[in-house]
Amino acid sequence: LQIFTGNANIPLARSIASHLNLNLGRAIVGVFKNGETRVQLEENVRGSDVFIVQSLTTPVDHHLMELLLMIDALRRASAQRVTAVIPYYGYAKQEKKTTGREPISAKLVANLIATAGADRVLTMDLHAPAIEGFFDIPVDHLQAGPLIADHFRSRNMKNVVVVSPDAGGVGRANKFRERIGASLAIIAKQRPAPDVSEVVEMVGDVAGKHAVIFDDMISTGGTLAEAAKTLKERGAISVVACATHGIFAGNAVELLGDSVMEEVLVTDTIPLPAEASAARIAQISVA
Ligand code: R5P
Repeated sequence: LQIFTGNANIPLARSIASHLNLNLGRAIVGVFKNGETRVQLEENVRGSDVFIVQSLTTPVDHHLMELLLMIDALRRASAQRVTAVIPYYGYAKQEKKTTGREPISAKLVANLIATAGADRVLTMDLHAPAIEGFFDIPVDHLQAGPLIADHFRSRNMKNVVVVSPDAGGVGRANKFRERIGASLAIIAKQRPAPDVSEVVEMVGDVAGKHAVIFDDMISTGGTLAEAAKTLKERGAISVVACATHGIFAGNAVELLGDSVMEEVLVTDTIPLPAEASAARIAQISVA
């Protein structure tokens, strides 16, 4: 078994390898002077069961290309089986057409990964579970919910309400609520423009309770910041948030740092930005 990584999330790849008492496979994954991605494996992989750890994080197109070229190099070097470990699957929010003449980008990315020669994909908390079906190769779709629930259970918090920050996340939040033994509240949100979030209504009782917002990803942070404001207005004693993927796009860290939230907890599917701890953003590992 060998583990290689691109440049998207080297700390996570190292951490996975260390759990397995392995060194990361040696490879050059860089850029030629003309801007093209350069990959060269520096180890023999013939007949090996190879895992490539590569989240599709910013710059997502570049990291995708690294992944595709690494898969191709492994195939051509006679690896026996290649598994693409994609802890965060970018392009997942473009899994359907929302208006005419748009691509279905998540499907195209799935085609590219399979065409490059991956035998299997291992990923976590896909934004839309249907993306699993975009692949004609086996997909292991892992969830961070049990890990995050363990973390909360160890805090022995009482009087907790789990909050889904939008209608699409209710199933996910309900499972999490069952795991930590809490009640449930649901926020209905709307997006008047791309990347802008507004709370429309909230269902459930949060007054006098500790609210834990549970989401799959944090991008601009707008969904969480707006949800937290509403929860405080409705009488929540405290608000924390947790999500599998911390993308923290644009000024998300600043927005969350200035929000009424006491803490934001994400996993390490994506590396944390340097300024995260000052904004009360913490990380647990899925390694
Ligand atoms: C939405 O469907 C997702 O579950 C997240 O709530 C959303 O992606 C968060 O985006 P943002 O942080 O930009 O509001």
